[in-house]
Amino acid sequence: MIFRPWLDSTLDPKARATLLRAEMTLEEKVGQLDMSLNVSPERDAEVLDRGATGTSIVASGEWAGNIADGGVRAASVRALQREAMSRHRLGVPLLVARDVIHGHRTVMPIPLGGAASFDPELHEAGLKAACEQAILDEISWAFTPMMDISDDPRWGRVAESFGEDPHLSEVMARAAVRGVQGAGADDGSPKIAACMKHFVGYGLSRGGRDYGSVEVGENTLRNVHLRPYKAAVDAGCLTLMAAFNDIDGTPMHANRFLLRDVLRGEWGFEGVVTADWNGVGELVNHGVAADSREAARLGIEAGVDVDMLSGVYVKHLPELVRSGEVPEALVDEACERVLALKFRLGLFEREWSDGERGVSVWETGASFEDVELSRRTALSAMTLLKNDGILPLSPEESVHVTGPFATERDSLLGTWCLDGVGEETQSIVEALTELHEGTLTWDDGRFADFAARKVIHANTALVLLGEHRLSSGEANSLAALTLPAGQVEFLRQIRAQHERVVTVVLSGRPLDLSSVLELSNAVVFSFHPGSKGALALAQVLFGVEEPLGRLPVTLPPSTGHVPISVREKRTSRPLNPYVQDGWQRRYVDAPTPPAFHFGAGSGYATFSLEPPRIEYDRVAIGEKAQVTCTVRNSGERAGRTLVQLYLSDPAASVTRPWRELIDFQWVSLEPGASTDLTFTVPTDAVGYWGRENTWQVDTGEVHLGVGLSAGEIDWARLEVTK
Ligand code: NOJ
Repeated sequence: MIFRPWLDSTLDPKARATLLRAEMTLEEKVGQLDMSLNVSPERDAEVLDRGATGTSIVASGEWAGNIADGGVRAASVRALQREAMSRHRLGVPLLVARDVIHGHRTVMPIPLGGAASFDPELHEAGLKAACEQAILDEISWAFTPMMDISDDPRWGRVAESFGEDPHLSEVMARAAVRGVQGAGADDGSPKIAACMKHFVGYGLSRGGRDYGSVEVGENTLRNVHLRPYKAAVDAGCLTLMAAFNDIDGTPMHANRFLLRDVLRGEWGFEGVVTADWNGVGELVNHGVAADSREAARLGIEAGVDVDMLSGVYVKHLPELVRSGEVPEALVDEACERVLALKFRLGLFEREWSDGERGVSVWETGASFEDVELSRRTALSAMTLLKNDGILPLSPEESVHVTGPFATERDSLLGTWCLDGVGEETQSIVEALTELHEGTLTWDDGRFADFAARKVIHANTALVLLGEHRLSSGEANSLAALTLPAGQVEFLRQIRAQHERVVTVVLSGRPLDLSSVLELSNAVVFSFHPGSKGALALAQVLFGVEEPLGRLPVTLPPSTGHVPISVREKRTSRPLNPYVQDGWQRRYVDAPTPPAFHFGAGSGYATFSLEPPRIEYDRVAIGEKAQVTCTVRNSGERAGRTLVQLYLSDPAASVTRPWRELIDFQWVSLEPGASTDLTFTVPTDAVGYWGRENTWQVDTGEVHLGVGLSAGEIDWARLEVTK
């Protein structure tokens, strides 16, 4: 029996990793840097004997978000871990990884819907619940959160993001890290690692085509795309995934500047960097490596610790080290990072016996609390875009429900949902039936002529349209941001028969909704809402609950308008930021402004804002300004609204957006009530990365504005002084 000092759990994880690494052969060290697919105790016994892999990803394959598998099962993971530890010469367990993205057995809205909540605590709670379920299934590494800023909704992966805004993405990224790594961590130590991805710039994929090339300068990276990653690093995120794209000619899997100089050097990130699926091997496809051997060298030199599924590290690194082309120190430090993560997650201390951790949710079913979180998060993903007063519907009035989402279950769960079960998900018709007290009829919209015939007998037509869940997510880009073929024609036919049409659109991305808005009395837009989305929607439609979503993305009036976002810059011929409809004509064939601005959406109450007041309109660098505005509920219902704080900087060393979100707060008010809302603004919130790519806070004038969306902001002036 060898003396194993690294098993002393009183030592720091890094120290334990160093002790263990020192005992390993070169092949064993490189083994820790390998991630293999669905490692099996039987089929991969020989791999486990050699310690030739360190991580098993449980997935259906390369496009796991599109192809369902049978779900992960605790008993098989435990059996694998027992086998892995007993076969490894030094008793090293595996990391078992899975794409637990926005839910596990219980599914929350897709991340873009999570962002629509503008509610970091709720988002945190939803992910925590999902990861607690995943922990019971013995998952120790969750490939979430994704934080790629995206203002091109043709890109299907916008569904997995927090949208287009860096501040909102920072806030949600921090919340997600707290949620994942807080799961099961009542003793203060994480049981599952979060993984921020995809570092970096993937949301700029050219033309919205997935895996596309990216051209972006360092200043835009720093002011926009790197921000949520820095926030996640500061929140203690344990791992990071490199992106498939290149940036200005250098693929991220070979990008030493961003992975080593910025991430590790400037930010002090000490966690594990993993490749994306075959990302190191694909350096050959990028045309920057002649063969897989060179790809392995470029990957490890750039700072990619774990080779996800290309196998090139195991194949080439030992020989590259022996030939002197790769310093062994690079393998050592990467290996220690992987081992430190395993120690930190407590994987060495586990018996891996059944029942040790509790019983999987597959056996017990989801708890009431988790289901309730799914409902609440879904309410927060639902955005009311138009309402001429028809909503909420009365539970007594007769309603005919039609459209592809009437009886659909699976697509409610959205993309990247590996363990949610479509057949177990309540359909919208079922949820409506639970709440409705009058006559409710429905069809599934297969025959527009039949639906048109049915709606005439009802007081209101409820049309449920939207995208199938396989239209968004990885490798699912769209060339046109329209509803699926035939849906607008379908709606037109219903409209021709009825004067009261409520339309709900469920999708994985912002869409061009112009025809839907024109043909409907009310429009509720929701990103795919998860397990309890149907109930949440029914509650919204009947006014039991308010729709609480606000747009985390700008809705373009047409596909030709993208990319478009809240971050539009001033330019040499500025569009006027201070005028409600200051978007001068920039297309000769279409109006320029968005269909709906970032932050738009309302509940059933009506709110108004008074212009902001700044108590002392001078503030010295390092101090804090206070911006106050009066919010009034001028309607007849109690409700909640989101007050947004924006910055506009008229003179900086680099061009800056017209308006940048810097803070937001929810307010609840009774009808007729008003309140003063105060935002505290540290001068760092007006800072930016300047012409030399250094952080700066300038003296001079800036403008702070409040609004209920980015399209209606009232401004006040602030002087920043030395
Ligand atoms: C590829 C995707 O880009 C990434 O987001 C995911 O985590 C991995 N595959 C693993 O499935």
